[in-house]
Amino acid sequence: MGKMPAEVDQYIKAHRSEFESDLFELLKIPSVSADSSCDADTEAAAQWVADQFTELGFATEKIETAGHPIVLARSAYQENSPTVMVYGHYDVQPPDPLDEWTSPPFEPSVRDGNVYARGATDDKGQMLTHIKSAEAWIKTCGKLPLNLIFLVEGEEEVGSENLDKYIAEHPEKIACDCVVISDTSQHGPGQPAITYGLRGIAYYELRLFGPSQDLHSGTFGGAVTNPANALTSMLAKLIDGEGKIQVPDFYESVVPLTTREREGFQALSNEQRFQDLVGVTGTTGESGFSTLERRCARPSFDINGIWSGYQGEGAKTVLPAKAVAKFSFRLVPNQDPEQISRNLKTFFESIVPPGIRMELIDFHGAPGVVVPLDSPYIEASARAIEHGFGTAPVYIREGGSIPIVSTFADKLGVESLLLGWGQNDDNMHSPNEKFNLADFHRGVRTSACLWAEIAGIV
Ligand code: BES
Ligand code: MN
Ligand code: MN
Repeated sequence: MGKMPAEVDQYIKAHRSEFESDLFELLKIPSVSADSSCDADTEAAAQWVADQFTELGFATEKIETAGHPIVLARSAYQENSPTVMVYGHYDVQPPDPLDEWTSPPFEPSVRDGNVYARGATDDKGQMLTHIKSAEAWIKTCGKLPLNLIFLVEGEEEVGSENLDKYIAEHPEKIACDCVVISDTSQHGPGQPAITYGLRGIAYYELRLFGPSQDLHSGTFGGAVTNPANALTSMLAKLIDGEGKIQVPDFYESVVPLTTREREGFQALSNEQRFQDLVGVTGTTGESGFSTLERRCARPSFDINGIWSGYQGEGAKTVLPAKAVAKFSFRLVPNQDPEQISRNLKTFFESIVPPGIRMELIDFHGAPGVVVPLDSPYIEASARAIEHGFGTAPVYIREGGSIPIVSTFADKLGVESLLLGWGQNDDNMHSPNEKFNLADFHRGVRTSACLWAEIAGIV
Protein backbone atom coordinates (compact mmCIF):
# COMPACT_ATOMS: atom_id res chain seq x y z
CA MET A 1 0.00 0.00 0.00
CA GLY A 2 1.23 3.48 -0.82
CA LYS A 3 3.88 3.12 -3.46
CA MET A 4 5.06 6.68 -3.18
CA PRO A 5 8.73 7.18 -2.30
CA ALA A 6 9.47 8.13 1.31
CA GLU A 7 11.09 11.40 0.24
CA VAL A 8 7.86 12.55 -1.42
CA ASP A 9 6.01 11.89 1.81
CA GLN A 10 8.70 13.71 3.79
CA TYR A 11 8.56 16.72 1.48
CA ILE A 12 4.80 16.93 2.01
CA LYS A 13 5.22 16.79 5.81
CA ALA A 14 8.03 19.34 5.77
CA HIS A 15 6.18 21.85 3.58
CA ARG A 16 2.84 22.05 5.32
CA SER A 17 3.18 25.70 6.21
CA GLU A 18 4.40 26.69 2.70
CA PHE A 19 1.43 24.84 1.18
CA GLU A 20 -0.90 26.69 3.54
CA SER A 21 0.55 30.11 2.77
CA ASP A 22 0.20 29.43 -0.94
CA LEU A 23 -3.42 28.47 -0.36
CA PHE A 24 -4.04 31.66 1.62
CA GLU A 25 -2.50 33.72 -1.18
CA LEU A 26 -4.90 32.26 -3.72
CA LEU A 27 -7.84 32.66 -1.34
CA LYS A 28 -7.15 36.37 -1.08
CA ILE A 29 -8.00 36.88 -4.76
CA PRO A 30 -11.76 37.57 -5.18
CA SER A 31 -12.23 35.60 -8.39
CA VAL A 32 -16.03 35.73 -8.50
CA SER A 33 -16.88 34.54 -12.01
CA ALA A 34 -20.48 35.78 -11.95
CA ASP A 35 -19.51 39.34 -11.06
CA SER A 36 -17.93 41.34 -13.88
CA SER A 37 -16.62 43.94 -11.43
CA CYS A 38 -14.23 41.17 -10.28
CA ASP A 39 -12.88 40.46 -13.78
CA ALA A 40 -9.38 41.79 -13.04
CA ASP A 41 -9.15 39.57 -9.96
CA THR A 42 -10.51 36.57 -11.79
CA GLU A 43 -7.75 37.12 -14.34
CA ALA A 44 -5.22 37.47 -11.50
CA ALA A 45 -6.32 34.12 -10.04
CA ALA A 46 -5.81 32.47 -13.43
CA GLN A 47 -2.33 33.99 -13.58
CA TRP A 48 -1.56 32.83 -10.03
CA VAL A 49 -2.48 29.27 -10.97
CA ALA A 50 -0.53 29.46 -14.24
CA ASP A 51 2.55 30.68 -12.33
CA GLN A 52 2.41 27.62 -10.09
CA PHE A 53 2.72 25.38 -13.14
CA THR A 54 5.44 27.45 -14.75
CA GLU A 55 7.47 27.09 -11.55
CA LEU A 56 7.10 23.32 -11.80
CA GLY A 57 8.47 23.42 -15.34
CA PHE A 58 5.14 22.48 -16.93
CA ALA A 59 4.30 23.66 -20.45
CA THR A 60 1.71 26.21 -19.41
CA GLU A 61 -0.89 28.13 -21.41
CA LYS A 62 -3.39 30.70 -20.25
CA ILE A 63 -6.08 30.42 -22.86
CA GLU A 64 -8.32 33.44 -23.33
CA THR A 65 -12.01 32.71 -23.97
CA ALA A 66 -15.13 34.80 -24.46
CA GLY A 67 -15.28 34.71 -20.66
CA HIS A 68 -12.58 33.89 -18.10
CA PRO A 69 -9.29 32.22 -19.08
CA ILE A 70 -8.61 28.51 -19.01
CA VAL A 71 -5.26 27.42 -17.56
CA LEU A 72 -3.83 24.35 -19.31
CA ALA A 73 -0.53 22.88 -18.19
CA ARG A 74 1.30 19.65 -18.88
CA SER A 75 4.25 17.92 -17.34
CA ALA A 76 7.25 16.85 -19.43
CA TYR A 77 6.00 13.96 -21.55
CA GLN A 78 7.16 10.48 -20.58
CA GLU A 79 6.68 7.70 -23.09
CA ASN A 80 4.82 4.56 -21.95
CA SER A 81 3.24 6.24 -18.96
CA PRO A 82 -0.47 6.90 -18.47
CA THR A 83 -1.76 10.46 -18.75
CA VAL A 84 -4.06 11.78 -16.04
CA MET A 85 -5.88 15.06 -16.38
CA VAL A 86 -6.65 17.01 -13.21
CA TYR A 87 -9.65 19.30 -13.57
CA GLY A 88 -10.44 22.08 -11.12
CA HIS A 89 -11.77 25.63 -10.99
CA TYR A 90 -10.25 28.85 -9.68
CA ASP A 91 -13.52 30.80 -9.80
CA VAL A 92 -15.73 31.15 -6.75
CA GLN A 93 -19.33 31.98 -5.91
CA PRO A 94 -20.30 35.51 -4.85
CA PRO A 95 -19.60 35.95 -1.11
CA ASP A 96 -22.89 37.59 -0.12
CA PRO A 97 -24.54 38.00 2.37
CA LEU A 98 -21.39 39.69 3.64
CA ASP A 99 -22.55 40.54 7.15
CA GLU A 100 -23.05 36.83 7.94
CA TRP A 101 -19.28 36.18 7.71
CA THR A 102 -17.32 36.00 10.95
CA SER A 103 -14.15 37.05 9.11
CA PRO A 104 -14.16 38.74 5.67
CA PRO A 105 -14.52 36.26 2.76
CA PHE A 106 -11.27 37.21 1.04
CA GLU A 107 -9.13 37.48 4.16
CA PRO A 108 -8.40 33.84 4.98
CA SER A 109 -8.62 33.24 8.71
CA VAL A 110 -7.67 30.05 10.57
CA ARG A 111 -9.91 28.94 13.43
CA ASP A 112 -10.06 25.45 14.99
CA GLY A 113 -7.89 23.93 12.29
CA ASN A 114 -10.07 25.27 9.48
CA VAL A 115 -9.31 28.02 7.01
CA TYR A 116 -12.32 30.27 6.47
CA ALA A 117 -12.60 32.04 3.09
CA ARG A 118 -14.73 31.98 -0.05
CA GLY A 119 -13.30 29.23 -2.26
CA ALA A 120 -11.53 27.43 0.61
CA THR A 121 -13.16 24.10 -0.20
CA ASP A 122 -14.86 25.04 -3.52
CA ASP A 123 -12.51 24.68 -5.23
CA LYS A 124 -9.23 26.47 -4.58
CA GLY A 125 -8.16 24.40 -1.58
CA GLN A 126 -9.14 21.07 -3.10
CA MET A 127 -7.66 21.88 -6.51
CA LEU A 128 -4.38 23.02 -4.95
CA THR A 129 -3.81 19.62 -3.31
CA HIS A 130 -3.00 18.19 -6.74
CA ILE A 131 -0.61 21.00 -7.63
CA LYS A 132 1.22 20.52 -4.33
CA SER A 133 1.44 16.75 -4.77
CA ALA A 134 2.99 17.29 -8.22
CA GLU A 135 5.41 19.75 -6.63
CA ALA A 136 6.41 17.17 -4.01
CA TRP A 137 7.21 14.58 -6.69
CA ILE A 138 9.11 16.97 -8.92
CA LYS A 139 11.13 18.60 -6.13
CA THR A 140 12.21 15.25 -4.69
CA CYS A 141 12.33 12.76 -7.59
CA GLY A 142 12.91 15.24 -10.40
CA LYS A 143 9.84 13.95 -12.23
CA LEU A 144 6.36 12.56 -11.86
CA PRO A 145 5.65 8.82 -12.13
CA LEU A 146 3.15 9.54 -14.95
CA ASN A 147 2.03 12.35 -17.26
CA LEU A 148 -0.17 15.03 -15.76
CA ILE A 149 -2.31 17.58 -17.54
CA PHE A 150 -3.96 20.28 -15.46
CA LEU A 151 -7.11 21.94 -16.77
CA VAL A 152 -8.19 24.68 -14.39
CA GLU A 153 -11.04 26.92 -15.48
CA GLY A 154 -12.67 30.10 -14.24
CA GLU A 155 -16.30 29.53 -15.19
CA GLU A 156 -17.39 26.39 -13.37
CA GLU A 157 -19.71 28.36 -11.12
CA VAL A 158 -21.43 29.88 -14.14
CA GLY A 159 -21.88 26.73 -16.22
CA SER A 160 -18.53 26.06 -17.97
CA GLU A 161 -19.84 27.05 -21.41
CA ASN A 162 -16.54 28.37 -22.76
CA LEU A 163 -14.63 25.33 -21.57
CA ASP A 164 -17.21 23.15 -23.24
CA LYS A 165 -16.60 24.99 -26.52
CA TYR A 166 -12.83 24.74 -26.11
CA ILE A 167 -13.03 20.97 -25.62
CA ALA A 168 -15.27 20.57 -28.66
CA GLU A 169 -12.71 22.47 -30.76
CA HIS A 170 -9.49 21.03 -29.29
CA PRO A 171 -10.16 17.58 -27.85
CA GLU A 172 -6.60 16.51 -28.78
CA LYS A 173 -5.14 19.06 -26.36
CA ILE A 174 -6.50 17.19 -23.39
CA ALA A 175 -6.40 13.59 -24.56
CA CYS A 176 -5.88 11.48 -21.43
CA ASP A 177 -6.58 8.13 -19.82
CA CYS A 178 -8.69 9.42 -16.95
CA VAL A 179 -9.68 12.61 -15.17
CA VAL A 180 -9.21 13.37 -11.48
CA ILE A 181 -11.44 15.96 -9.81
CA SER A 182 -11.46 17.06 -6.20
CA ASP A 183 -14.53 19.27 -6.00
CA THR A 184 -16.90 17.15 -3.92
CA SER A 185 -17.14 16.12 -0.28
CA GLN A 186 -16.39 13.31 2.08
CA HIS A 187 -19.43 11.51 3.46
CA GLY A 188 -18.62 12.75 6.94
CA PRO A 189 -15.65 13.50 9.17
CA GLY A 190 -13.25 10.58 8.94
CA GLN A 191 -15.36 9.08 6.15
CA PRO A 192 -13.58 9.82 2.87
CA ALA A 193 -15.64 9.05 -0.20
CA ILE A 194 -15.37 8.25 -3.84
CA THR A 195 -18.31 9.97 -5.52
CA TYR A 196 -19.68 7.91 -8.38
CA GLY A 197 -22.62 10.11 -9.37
CA LEU A 198 -23.50 13.78 -9.64
CA ARG A 199 -26.77 15.44 -10.50
CA GLY A 200 -27.15 17.62 -13.56
CA ILE A 201 -28.88 20.97 -13.67
CA ALA A 202 -31.24 23.09 -15.77
CA TYR A 203 -31.37 26.74 -14.67
CA TYR A 204 -33.89 29.41 -15.71
CA GLU A 205 -35.14 32.91 -15.11
CA LEU A 206 -38.83 33.58 -15.56
CA ARG A 207 -39.87 37.20 -16.07
CA LEU A 208 -43.51 38.19 -16.06
CA PHE A 209 -44.69 41.61 -17.23
CA GLY A 210 -48.17 42.93 -16.48
CA PRO A 211 -49.43 46.53 -16.59
CA SER A 212 -47.21 49.17 -18.16
CA GLN A 213 -46.31 50.55 -14.71
CA ASP A 214 -46.86 49.83 -11.00
CA LEU A 215 -50.51 50.45 -10.04
CA HIS A 216 -52.54 51.26 -6.91
CA SER A 217 -53.71 47.86 -5.70
CA GLY A 218 -57.00 49.35 -4.46
CA THR A 219 -57.96 51.01 -7.71
CA PHE A 220 -56.86 48.11 -9.93
CA GLY A 221 -56.46 45.01 -7.73
CA GLY A 222 -58.81 42.15 -8.55
CA ALA A 223 -59.15 43.15 -12.17
CA VAL A 224 -55.62 43.45 -13.50
CA THR A 225 -53.48 40.31 -13.43
CA ASN A 226 -50.80 40.83 -10.80
CA PRO A 227 -47.44 39.52 -12.13
CA ALA A 228 -46.34 38.52 -8.61
CA ASN A 229 -49.53 36.49 -8.13
CA ALA A 230 -49.09 34.98 -11.59
CA LEU A 231 -45.47 34.13 -10.86
CA THR A 232 -46.19 32.35 -7.59
CA SER A 233 -49.07 30.42 -9.10
CA MET A 234 -47.06 29.38 -12.16
CA LEU A 235 -44.12 28.29 -10.03
CA ALA A 236 -46.46 26.41 -7.69
CA LYS A 237 -47.79 24.44 -10.65
CA LEU A 238 -44.28 23.08 -11.29
CA ILE A 239 -44.53 20.64 -8.39
CA ASP A 240 -47.40 18.70 -6.82
CA GLY A 241 -48.13 17.79 -3.20
CA GLU A 242 -46.19 14.53 -3.54
CA GLY A 243 -43.07 16.36 -4.62
CA LYS A 244 -43.41 15.30 -8.28
CA ILE A 245 -42.29 17.82 -10.89
CA GLN A 246 -45.10 18.59 -13.31
CA VAL A 247 -43.20 19.51 -16.49
CA PRO A 248 -44.58 17.09 -19.12
CA ASP A 249 -42.52 13.89 -19.55
CA PHE A 250 -40.09 15.05 -16.85
CA TYR A 251 -39.56 11.56 -15.42
CA GLU A 252 -39.65 9.75 -18.76
CA SER A 253 -35.99 8.76 -18.73
CA VAL A 254 -35.36 8.64 -14.97
CA VAL A 255 -34.00 5.24 -14.01
CA PRO A 256 -34.82 4.07 -10.46
CA LEU A 257 -32.03 2.86 -8.19
CA THR A 258 -31.25 -0.84 -8.21
CA THR A 259 -32.09 -2.67 -4.98
CA ARG A 260 -28.39 -2.99 -4.27
CA GLU A 261 -27.77 0.73 -4.69
CA ARG A 262 -30.77 1.52 -2.51
CA GLU A 263 -29.34 -0.68 0.22
CA GLY A 264 -26.06 1.18 -0.10
CA PHE A 265 -27.90 4.47 0.37
CA GLN A 266 -29.75 3.03 3.36
CA ALA A 267 -26.50 2.02 5.01
CA LEU A 268 -25.11 5.55 4.70
CA SER A 269 -28.28 7.40 5.76
CA ASN A 270 -28.32 9.35 8.97
CA GLU A 271 -31.47 11.47 9.09
CA GLN A 272 -30.73 13.08 12.46
CA ARG A 273 -27.18 14.06 11.53
CA PHE A 274 -28.52 15.57 8.33
CA GLN A 275 -31.20 17.63 10.09
CA ASP A 276 -28.64 18.88 12.60
CA LEU A 277 -26.28 19.82 9.78
CA VAL A 278 -28.77 22.13 8.11
CA GLY A 279 -30.56 23.26 11.26
CA VAL A 280 -34.07 21.99 10.53
CA THR A 281 -36.49 19.86 12.51
CA GLY A 282 -38.07 18.10 9.55
CA THR A 283 -37.61 17.45 5.85
CA THR A 284 -39.90 17.05 2.84
CA GLY A 285 -39.50 15.87 -0.72
CA GLU A 286 -40.65 13.38 -3.28
CA SER A 287 -42.81 10.71 -1.58
CA GLY A 288 -41.37 7.25 -1.36
CA PHE A 289 -37.71 8.23 -1.20
CA SER A 290 -35.25 8.70 1.64
CA THR A 291 -33.57 12.04 2.32
CA LEU A 292 -30.27 10.78 0.91
CA GLU A 293 -31.94 9.52 -2.26
CA ARG A 294 -33.83 12.80 -2.67
CA ARG A 295 -30.60 14.74 -2.38
CA CYS A 296 -28.40 12.64 -4.62
CA ALA A 297 -30.34 10.40 -6.92
CA ARG A 298 -33.75 12.05 -7.56
CA PRO A 299 -34.51 15.23 -9.48
CA SER A 300 -35.49 18.35 -7.55
CA PHE A 301 -36.92 21.81 -8.11
CA ASP A 302 -35.77 24.92 -6.24
CA ILE A 303 -36.55 28.59 -6.53
CA ASN A 304 -33.14 30.26 -6.24
CA GLY A 305 -34.29 33.87 -6.14
CA ILE A 306 -37.61 35.68 -6.40
CA TRP A 307 -38.52 39.33 -6.40
CA SER A 308 -41.33 41.73 -7.22
CA GLY A 309 -43.13 44.68 -5.72
CA TYR A 310 -42.31 46.60 -2.59
CA GLN A 311 -39.30 45.45 -0.52
CA GLY A 312 -38.85 48.49 1.75
CA GLU A 313 -39.93 49.24 5.29
CA GLY A 314 -43.59 49.21 6.22
CA ALA A 315 -46.48 48.49 3.86
CA LYS A 316 -47.10 49.79 0.37
CA THR A 317 -50.29 48.92 -1.49
CA VAL A 318 -48.88 48.33 -4.91
CA LEU A 319 -49.75 46.07 -7.81
CA PRO A 320 -46.30 45.56 -9.35
CA ALA A 321 -45.71 45.81 -13.07
CA LYS A 322 -43.35 42.87 -13.15
CA ALA A 323 -42.12 39.83 -11.26
CA VAL A 324 -39.03 37.71 -11.69
CA ALA A 325 -37.81 34.37 -10.38
CA LYS A 326 -34.66 32.35 -10.87
CA PHE A 327 -35.20 28.64 -10.44
CA SER A 328 -33.56 25.37 -11.33
CA PHE A 329 -34.09 21.66 -11.59
CA ARG A 330 -31.44 19.20 -10.50
CA LEU A 331 -31.41 16.31 -12.92
CA VAL A 332 -30.37 12.70 -12.73
CA PRO A 333 -28.50 10.73 -15.41
CA ASN A 334 -30.37 10.25 -18.72
CA GLN A 335 -32.52 13.37 -18.32
CA ASP A 336 -31.88 15.76 -21.19
CA PRO A 337 -31.72 19.44 -20.12
CA GLU A 338 -32.61 20.65 -23.63
CA GLN A 339 -35.72 18.53 -23.86
CA ILE A 340 -36.73 19.70 -20.41
CA SER A 341 -36.33 23.33 -21.53
CA ARG A 342 -38.61 22.77 -24.52
CA ASN A 343 -41.25 21.04 -22.41
CA LEU A 344 -41.03 23.68 -19.71
CA LYS A 345 -41.62 26.47 -22.21
CA THR A 346 -44.67 24.70 -23.66
CA PHE A 347 -45.97 24.07 -20.14
CA PHE A 348 -45.62 27.71 -19.08
CA GLU A 349 -47.22 28.93 -22.33
CA SER A 350 -50.24 26.76 -21.52
CA ILE A 351 -50.68 28.21 -18.02
CA VAL A 352 -49.60 31.86 -18.30
CA PRO A 353 -52.68 33.95 -17.43
CA PRO A 354 -54.18 36.63 -19.73
CA GLY A 355 -52.67 40.07 -19.31
CA ILE A 356 -49.15 38.75 -18.71
CA ARG A 357 -46.23 38.71 -21.12
CA MET A 358 -43.70 36.04 -20.30
CA GLU A 359 -39.96 35.73 -20.95
CA LEU A 360 -38.22 32.50 -20.09
CA ILE A 361 -34.44 32.70 -20.07
CA ASP A 362 -32.53 29.47 -20.30
CA PHE A 363 -29.21 29.64 -18.44
CA HIS A 364 -26.80 26.77 -18.20
CA GLY A 365 -27.78 23.15 -18.38
CA ALA A 366 -25.80 20.00 -17.78
CA PRO A 367 -26.75 16.34 -17.61
CA GLY A 368 -26.23 14.21 -14.51
CA VAL A 369 -23.54 11.55 -14.49
CA VAL A 370 -22.67 8.21 -12.97
CA VAL A 371 -19.20 6.76 -13.34
CA PRO A 372 -18.39 3.05 -13.46
CA LEU A 373 -17.05 1.64 -10.21
CA ASP A 374 -15.49 -1.49 -11.67
CA SER A 375 -12.36 0.15 -12.99
CA PRO A 376 -8.67 -0.13 -12.09
CA TYR A 377 -8.61 3.68 -11.63
CA ILE A 378 -11.25 3.46 -8.92
CA GLU A 379 -9.26 0.71 -7.23
CA ALA A 380 -6.12 2.83 -7.44
CA SER A 381 -8.04 5.77 -5.94
CA ALA A 382 -9.34 3.63 -3.09
CA ARG A 383 -5.79 2.49 -2.25
CA ALA A 384 -4.52 6.07 -2.34
CA ILE A 385 -7.33 7.28 -0.07
CA GLU A 386 -6.70 4.46 2.35
CA HIS A 387 -3.09 5.57 2.52
CA GLY A 388 -3.75 9.32 2.74
CA PHE A 389 -6.76 9.25 5.07
CA GLY A 390 -5.98 6.05 6.97
CA THR A 391 -9.35 4.52 6.15
CA ALA A 392 -11.06 3.03 3.13
CA PRO A 393 -13.49 5.24 1.19
CA VAL A 394 -17.25 4.86 1.05
CA TYR A 395 -18.98 5.12 -2.33
CA ILE A 396 -21.58 7.85 -2.65
CA ARG A 397 -23.56 9.89 -5.13
CA GLU A 398 -23.80 13.62 -4.53
CA GLY A 399 -26.49 16.12 -5.40
CA GLY A 400 -24.33 18.96 -6.72
CA SER A 401 -23.26 19.38 -10.33
CA ILE A 402 -19.95 19.72 -12.14
CA PRO A 403 -21.16 20.52 -15.66
CA ILE A 404 -18.02 19.52 -17.53
CA VAL A 405 -17.92 15.92 -16.26
CA SER A 406 -20.47 14.74 -18.82
CA THR A 407 -18.41 16.45 -21.56
CA PHE A 408 -15.32 14.50 -20.48
CA ALA A 409 -17.30 11.28 -20.83
CA ASP A 410 -19.02 12.18 -24.11
CA LYS A 411 -16.28 14.06 -25.97
CA LEU A 412 -13.11 12.44 -24.62
CA GLY A 413 -14.53 9.04 -23.69
CA VAL A 414 -12.84 9.09 -20.29
CA GLU A 415 -14.14 8.51 -16.81
CA SER A 416 -13.77 11.04 -14.00
CA LEU A 417 -12.56 10.07 -10.55
CA LEU A 418 -14.45 12.30 -8.12
CA LEU A 419 -12.26 12.33 -5.05
CA GLY A 420 -13.51 14.99 -2.65
CA TRP A 421 -11.61 16.14 0.41
CA GLY A 422 -14.33 18.55 1.63
CA GLN A 423 -16.97 18.14 4.33
CA ASN A 424 -20.73 18.64 4.02
CA ASP A 425 -20.54 21.41 6.62
CA ASP A 426 -17.85 23.36 4.74
CA ASN A 427 -20.50 25.94 3.77
CA MET A 428 -19.94 25.78 0.01
CA HIS A 429 -21.71 28.77 -1.60
CA SER A 430 -22.69 30.00 1.89
CA PRO A 431 -21.27 32.44 4.42
CA ASN A 432 -18.25 31.20 6.41
CA GLU A 433 -17.04 28.73 3.80
CA LYS A 434 -14.18 26.71 5.24
CA PHE A 435 -11.79 23.88 4.54
CA ASN A 436 -10.25 21.71 7.20
CA LEU A 437 -6.47 22.06 6.96
CA ALA A 438 -5.93 18.46 8.06
CA ASP A 439 -8.14 17.40 5.14
CA PHE A 440 -6.11 19.69 2.89
CA HIS A 441 -2.86 17.95 3.86
CA ARG A 442 -4.45 14.50 3.71
CA GLY A 443 -5.63 15.45 0.22
CA VAL A 444 -2.08 16.37 -0.86
CA ARG A 445 -0.78 13.06 0.47
CA THR A 446 -3.56 11.03 -1.14
CA SER A 447 -2.95 12.80 -4.43
CA ALA A 448 0.81 12.11 -4.31
CA CYS A 449 0.04 8.48 -3.63
CA LEU A 450 -2.55 8.34 -6.41
CA TRP A 451 0.03 9.23 -9.06
CA ALA A 452 2.10 6.23 -7.99
CA GLU A 453 -0.95 3.97 -7.84
CA ILE A 454 -2.15 4.94 -11.32
CA ALA A 455 1.36 4.64 -12.75
CA GLY A 456 1.46 1.14 -11.30
CA ILE A 457 -1.67 -0.09 -13.09
CA VAL A 458 -0.59 -2.61 -15.70
N1 BES B 1 -18.18 21.87 -6.28
C1 BES B 1 -19.50 22.13 -6.71
C2 BES B 1 -20.25 20.88 -7.09
C3 BES B 1 -20.66 20.00 -5.95
C4 BES B 1 -21.32 20.52 -4.87
C5 BES B 1 -20.45 18.67 -6.03
C6 BES B 1 -21.70 19.70 -3.83
C7 BES B 1 -20.84 17.83 -5.01
C8 BES B 1 -21.46 18.36 -3.89
C9 BES B 1 -19.46 23.06 -7.90
O1 BES B 1 -18.53 24.09 -7.76
C10 BES B 1 -20.79 23.74 -8.05
O2 BES B 1 -21.17 24.46 -7.18
N2 BES B 1 -21.46 23.51 -9.16
C11 BES B 1 -22.64 24.23 -9.48
C12 BES B 1 -22.83 24.09 -10.96
C13 BES B 1 -23.75 25.10 -11.57
C14 BES B 1 -23.37 26.50 -11.24
C15 BES B 1 -23.81 24.89 -13.05
C16 BES B 1 -23.81 23.67 -8.71
O3 BES B 1 -23.88 22.46 -8.43
O4 BES B 1 -24.68 24.46 -8.35
MN1 MN C 1 -16.71 23.41 -7.18
MN1 MN D 1 -19.47 25.62 -6.43
